[in-house]
Amino acid sequence: MKIKTAEFVISNTNYRICPAPKMAEYAFIGRSNVGKSSLINAIVNQKNLAKTSGKPGKTQLINHFIINKEWYLVDLPGFGYAKISKTKRAEFHDMISEYLLNRTNLMCLFVLIDSRHKPQDIDKEFMQWLSEQRIPFVMVFTKTDKLGKVVLAKNIGTYKTEMLKVWEELPQIFITSAEKKTGTKEICDFIEQLNPQFKEII
Ligand code: GTP
Ligand code: MG
Repeated sequence: MKIKTAEFVISNTNYRICPAPKMAEYAFIGRSNVGKSSLINAIVNQKNLAKTSGKPGKTQLINHFIINKEWYLVDLPGFGYAKISKTKRAEFHDMISEYLLNRTNLMCLFVLIDSRHKPQDIDKEFMQWLSEQRIPFVMVFTKTDKLGKVVLAKNIGTYKTEMLKVWEELPQIFITSAEKKTGTKEICDFIEQLNPQFKEII
């Protein structure tokens, strides 16, 4: 799929005031600093549509972008960021879980995982929760330009082995680099193939 237009729509703290759920939607989530906003920019081919930062905790709202005037991409705040207050963390948690549980047009959630790290409990537990809640998701390994081919293959292999200890089947996996634009075409094609399955829930 070709991305012809990508525009910012609105930022919210509450799913209830997000744009009306009349078009297919795809959201990006994962630990703070994993590269969610950067990957959205790489996909839409713009440098600063989603705000990025070298410091974790940059994205703090539910940010809607409309693509080709046909579907939404959503940039969510990261989780697992240590340097925020307990109150703020609880607020983020509620905001994100309410969005995920109630957003009727959410076709698929992209769960981003830093390809450089060993499987982290916070990510594994989050994916477990998604499956319990029947929220459809795929896994996206990020920042693969920072690793050589051999280490990358080893890390992904380790992740798969770890997941297969508890999962019967693995979710779909995308290998990406926002820096090199690796995997962006695959993500666009995946979305293109899912879009026709969208049905508005009234
Ligand atoms: P929060 O909004 O804070 O949760 O972070 P985020 O997940 O949106 O991460 P963001 O896109 O802001 O990127 C964090 C840092 O990682 C920035 O310094 C990016 O330049 C860098 N980064 C993101 N993706 C890549 C990548 O594919 N390759 C490399 N080398 N750096 C990346
Ligand atoms: Mg961000």
